[in-house]
Amino acid sequence: MSPDFSLPDYLKAKTALIDEALAGYFSEDSPRCRLICKAARYSLLSGGKRIRPVLCIAAAEALGEKAVDVLPAACALEMIHAYSLIHDDLPAMDNDDYRRGQLTSHKVFGDDIAILAGDALLTEAFKILADRKKTPKVSPGRMLAASREVAEAAGYRGMVGGQALDVRMEGKKGELEELCAIHRLKTGALLRASLRCGAILAGADKKALDDLSAYGDRIGLAFQIADDILNVEGDSRLLGKETGSDAKRGKITFPALLGLEASHKKAQELVDEAVSFLGAFKDQAAPLEAIARYIVNRRT
Ligand code: IPE
Ligand code: IPE
Ligand code: MG
Ligand code: MG
Repeated sequence: MSPDFSLPDYLKAKTALIDEALAGYFSEDSPRCRLICKAARYSLLSGGKRIRPVLCIAAAEALGEKAVDVLPAACALEMIHAYSLIHDDLPAMDNDDYRRGQLTSHKVFGDDIAILAGDALLTEAFKILADRKKTPKVSPGRMLAASREVAEAAGYRGMVGGQALDVRMEGKKGELEELCAIHRLKTGALLRASLRCGAILAGADKKALDDLSAYGDRIGLAFQIADDILNVEGDSRLLGKETGSDAKRGKITFPALLGLEASHKKAQELVDEAVSFLGAFKDQAAPLEAIARYIVNRRT
C-alpha cells in the first residue's frame, strides 16, 4: 500500500462529499410530503459510517473514474441501506429503540410512517439510479446494468431474502453453513453490489468486476461477523445502538456458534482473502485494502 495513504483522511473526505449530496434529497417542503420527507431525512442524515457509498466510490476510483460520476448512485445505495435499517428496527423485526445514537424511526414517527419512510427511501433510490441529469457523461447502458445489479442485491435474491431467513431463524439452532448464507445475503449482498455498481458505472471489464466481486463477497461476510462481535463486546455508546440484543432475541450469530475468538479469526481470514483479489489495481486499490482491514478492526 502507498505509504502516504491515510484511511481516516480518505473516509473524512468521502463522507463529507456523500453527506453533502444526501442532504439535497427529500428536501421538498410542500405540505403533502413534509412528514414523509422529514422521516426519510431523520434516518438518512443521522450519520453512520457511509460504508456502502464509500465502497461504490472507491471501486470507481480504483478504475480511474471520478467520485462525482458515481455520487448519485452512491447516495442511492445509502438510501437503500437507511431503508433496511428502519425496517430492521421495527417491532415486527428486531424491535430496537436506538440506531446511530438516536431513537429509531418508529419510536419517533410511529410504525406506519417508519414503514413508509423506508418505502420512500427504497423507491427514491431507484429513481436516482435511473436519472442521468447529474451524470450526463455516464452511458444509459451502464446505468441500466448498475440499477439491475442493485435491484437484484437489495431484493429477495439478496438483502430481503437474508432478512427473511434471519427473522425466521430466531430461537432456532443453525449450522455454520446456513449462518454464512444468511450473512452473505442480509448484509454481504448490498456491500458487494455497492462495489459492483461503482465498477459498472466506471466501465469495468470482466476481470476487474470479478476481482471486486470476490473482494466484496469476503468483506461482506466479514462485515456482518464484525457486527455480530460488536453486539457482544462493543460499546453501545460508541455504536449508537444496543448491545447484547442478538443473544436476547436468540439470533443465530458467529459468536453464538463459534465463540468470540474463532469469530475474530474467521473475520481476519476473510479480510486477508479479500485483499488478495486487489493486486491488479495496484496503488489505486489502497483505499479498498485499508477499508477491508478497518471493517474488522472498527469499534462502530
Ligand atoms: C448496520 O450497518 C447493519 C448491518 C447491515 C450490519 P452499518 O454498520 O453499516 O451501519 P451504519 O450505516 O454505520 O449506521
Ligand atoms: C441488519 O442486520 C441487516 C440489515 C439491515 C439488512 P442486524 O440486525 O444484525 O444489524 P444491526 O445490528 O441491527 O445493525
Ligand atoms: Mg436484523
Ligand atoms: Mg438489527
